[in-house]
Amino acid sequence: MCGIFGCILKNGSAAPIIHASLKRLEYRGYDSVGVATIDNGKLFVKKDIGKIDDVPTELNLDDLPGRIGIGHTRWATHGAPSQINAHPHFGCSDPPRIAVVHNGIIENFADLKRELEERGHVFRSKTDTEVIAHLIEDGLKTQKSTPEAAVSSSDFEKAVTDAVKRLQGSYAIAVTSLEEPDKIICARNESPLVLGINEDSLYFASDIPAVLPLTNKAVFVENGELVILKNGEFQIKKLVDGSIVAREPKLIDWTPEMAEKQGYLHFMLKEIHEQPHCIRDTLRLQDKYLELLTTFLDRSKEVIMVACGTSYHACLAASYMFSKLSFLATHPVIASEFPEQHGKSVNIDSTILAVSQSGETADTLAAVEAARLRAATILGLTNAVGSTLTRVSRVYAVQQSGPEIGVAATKTFTSQLSVLSQLAIRLAKKRGKVSQEEIDLLDEKTAKIPDIVEKIVETQEEKLKALAKKYRDKKCFFFLGRGISYATALEGRLKLMEIAYVPSIAFPAGESKHGPISLIESGFPVIFICPPDGTRKTLIGNIMEMKARGASVIAICEEGDKDIMKMVDDYIEITSGIPEVLSPIPYVVPLQLFAYYMAIERGCDPDMPRNLAKSVTVK
Ligand code: F6R
Repeated sequence: MCGIFGCILKNGSAAPIIHASLKRLEYRGYDSVGVATIDNGKLFVKKDIGKIDDVPTELNLDDLPGRIGIGHTRWATHGAPSQINAHPHFGCSDPPRIAVVHNGIIENFADLKRELEERGHVFRSKTDTEVIAHLIEDGLKTQKSTPEAAVSSSDFEKAVTDAVKRLQGSYAIAVTSLEEPDKIICARNESPLVLGINEDSLYFASDIPAVLPLTNKAVFVENGELVILKNGEFQIKKLVDGSIVAREPKLIDWTPEMAEKQGYLHFMLKEIHEQPHCIRDTLRLQDKYLELLTTFLDRSKEVIMVACGTSYHACLAASYMFSKLSFLATHPVIASEFPEQHGKSVNIDSTILAVSQSGETADTLAAVEAARLRAATILGLTNAVGSTLTRVSRVYAVQQSGPEIGVAATKTFTSQLSVLSQLAIRLAKKRGKVSQEEIDLLDEKTAKIPDIVEKIVETQEEKLKALAKKYRDKKCFFFLGRGISYATALEGRLKLMEIAYVPSIAFPAGESKHGPISLIESGFPVIFICPPDGTRKTLIGNIMEMKARGASVIAICEEGDKDIMKMVDDYIEITSGIPEVLSPIPYVVPLQLFAYYMAIERGCDPDMPRNLAKSVTVK
């Protein structure tokens, strides 16, 4: 995820401070680094791809003059990692007069870019961010008769305000301009932004760790706010009406380690909590990628989805989505099995949809290569721009969940499901398989998923903590679901096994009578995933079978589902009205939290499960 930092110092040189602070944002993940400073009426910029310790040495970043500057670590979303795509970005003027750094995703950048190009703006990069610089430049130009004419102080602020008002999406941005070389203007919507204040200097950053060694006085900027930093003073204004917001600094007593995790004990917990934000960003994926993927899927004679682990569970869930909504049969296949299972049958008419958050999993790439050699079409879904999967795919989409640090996949899973459900809905529409009313309803419900996930975390976390206490010593768990919830059950089981080391079994609930039920004895814990879909009635029968044999049943069910609640020992409630095809997204969240708290109860480190690596690059 991108990181931003900048400062206005009373004295001294900004560049080395920006360098050291960006280093403290490294944990967010990045591929490029850039800094712009202002000195003596000139804008100085250095940027490149690479690690923070290499780029400053190669480019000598610390050498940039001036006590005012902005810096950025980029994690590519729009446009591959490259020098030109690294931030800061500028308008047309050469040498640059405006520099912008940005964290987030500008949803409407393609429309804005088209409009600006029609007005004569020439773009250098492939990023969404660059439109911000051109918009500001355009605003300033319309306020001035000649490009070099002096402008009043409010003109820069007005140009930034007008530009920001046109942005849709998520952003924390910072802008410097030669129009007013003693000022930095920042704005925020959905992406974090914090100010650091001390006696003589002002700082801003995406995250507390960047400012912590410089000051422990912080002001958190809220959505829809603009911040003007100048001469040791800051002013916060509401974007909507320019009204001034008074906000006192807070004293931060986090250690640097706590700050990296934003106060959470582990990255995994932070990433579980981040899911509403990530899903919102994922849903901002540009239409053209979804449209292209949908077109390829629509034309395919055979679709095989290949992936490993959690990503495979996303594919399994997607196979239900494609079948139910778009009447498309797909085969989810565990990538390491692909050569044996489909190696000989895959051909020029086959489409392979490879799903891998890292884009580097060896088994998934080997399956793709085997299919490529037999002329199959490769489509990709990944979280990593520039990864091998993006290079070998005919078309790919980037899920935009930001880097995942915890070894256990959480936010990347719910983001994968969000993209895959979008594809299934689009394909259904393209094929005329569901009515427009149904599509509208699905779109409306999809937009509410981030809020629903937020509510689950807010309302159910304490209960899940208590459940983990209650069940911490159980030796084995069953996870059961029917239909699409089978995929959710598999994912809940994988989380519990991999981070809390509890052997667990997941299978379609209908299979229990065909063997596994013989394991059940008094107190054996069974977790049922019970959304109110077409499988609910039969699932209730399965719950009764388990209860009759003395199992301790935990149900993840719809809020107020009294029939289920009174049958089971414990339950977790999920907001009502979620369409079946979207249900794995909210229903998996309690299972992630349960696994997390089980790991804590059992003294395991959820961020570093033994024997596992984040990206499995060996077969
Ligand atoms: C489980 C987990 C793994 C990965 C698997 C595939 O929590 O993280 O099962 O899902 O190794 O990784 P990607 O998606 O990077 O191909």
